[in-house]
Amino acid sequence: MIASYSYATGARFAPLPKRTLCLRGKNDGMKAWQISPFANLKLSQVDSQPLLPRQVRLAVKAVSLNYRDHLMMQGLYNPKQPLPLVPCSDASAEIVEIGSAVQRWKIGDRVCPIFSQAWIAGPPTRERISATLGGPLPGMLQQQRILDEDGMVAIPNYLDWEEAATLPCAALTAWNALAGLAPGSKVVVQGTGGVSLFALQLAKASGLEVAITSSSDEKLERALSLGADYLVNYRLRPDWSKAIRHWCKEGVDCVVEVGGGTLEQSLRCLRPGGQISMIGILAGSSAPLNVLPILMQQLRVQGVLVGNRDDFEAMNRLLALHQLRPVLDQRIPFEQAPQAWLRLASGQHFGKVVVTGFW
Ligand SMILES: NC(=O)c1ccc[n+]([C@@H]2O[C@H](COP(=O)([O-])OP(=O)(O)OC[C@H]3O[C@@H](n4cnc5c(N)ncnc54)[C@H](OP(=O)(O)O)[C@@H]3O)[C@@H](O)[C@H]2O)c1
Repeated sequence: MIASYSYATGARFAPLPKRTLCLRGKNDGMKAWQISPFANLKLSQVDSQPLLPRQVRLAVKAVSLNYRDHLMMQGLYNPKQPLPLVPCSDASAEIVEIGSAVQRWKIGDRVCPIFSQAWIAGPPTRERISATLGGPLPGMLQQQRILDEDGMVAIPNYLDWEEAATLPCAALTAWNALAGLAPGSKVVVQGTGGVSLFALQLAKASGLEVAITSSSDEKLERALSLGADYLVNYRLRPDWSKAIRHWCKEGVDCVVEVGGGTLEQSLRCLRPGGQISMIGILAGSSAPLNVLPILMQQLRVQGVLVGNRDDFEAMNRLLALHQLRPVLDQRIPFEQAPQAWLRLASGQHFGKVVVTGFW
């Protein structure tokens, strides 16, 4: 063990001196942050493993946090998750070694891992959506990670490591939440976290009109500068669906639902035939609900679980076309990774919190 940090109490234990690590060596070992037990992050020295023929070795460059990582840390995402667990799904990395049968990549390529390692294309199946990074599979908050060559996509050239690390879960979820919406459609985006700001940026790049809600007027001003068309402070307007219907009398085409417990209000925002893209549970995973409007107005509630590799590559083409830059909140050094959890838990962030400086 090198250092440990109690996420729950903020208590820090003195780290041992840093070691110099060789990036390209196979057996030099490396550092990995691990959840062990829940609510505690421990920096450990772990051995590197040899590659199988179709695997690649990644030198991780940056990792971004999702709300899921916060839940995982607390043991709320899957209380039965075996520990220790290296957390985090979203990363950018350089390929530093390839197995003997690898065909898709060469050393030096810049890649992002895909969230569901077995979901390459097509609709979700239990098998495809169960092999996810950062739980149950070991995640990316470590200096090296070995993955199957199919489990990653190329990073658009114009993005730096930290920007690219935000794409695998947050951006792709937003992309799929907006799937099928034609230019001119109206969308509601809740809050200014990672998924929501990607939804705002992707929607504007696709010619949609966007209303965004936030607990903070200051954050709403920043959303305005990203192209938002209508702003609602949900703390000052607890009946924010009325404000949305003031903006759009007929009702909007889609709500990007990260609240969960806010579903009933979100349904009130929709036009007949409109869609809830059900993504998150920031306001709780249950809510009293009158289901009548769903049938009377032919509303759809569509679950979204990130997406597959094909989706990721399609999204990257649009990002590159518009040269969209992910909104970064803070860049936190690898050695101080637990600070990233504290930042996310504070709710003060605007966009993505990124851990960087792995080497
Ligand atoms: N289904 C999937 O595939 C998928 C993928 C990614 C994320 N998620 C889920 O989506 C949710 C958002 O994830 P994230 O990573 O984007 O989180 P995040 O970056 O931590 O975003 C949190 C932000 O959401 C806003 N918020 C909090 N409570 C809210 C409420 N009651 N109503 C409206 N907005 C609220 C706040 O924005 P303001 O400060 O502006 O108020 C807060 O800063 C989480 O529940 C996460 O688990 C699901």
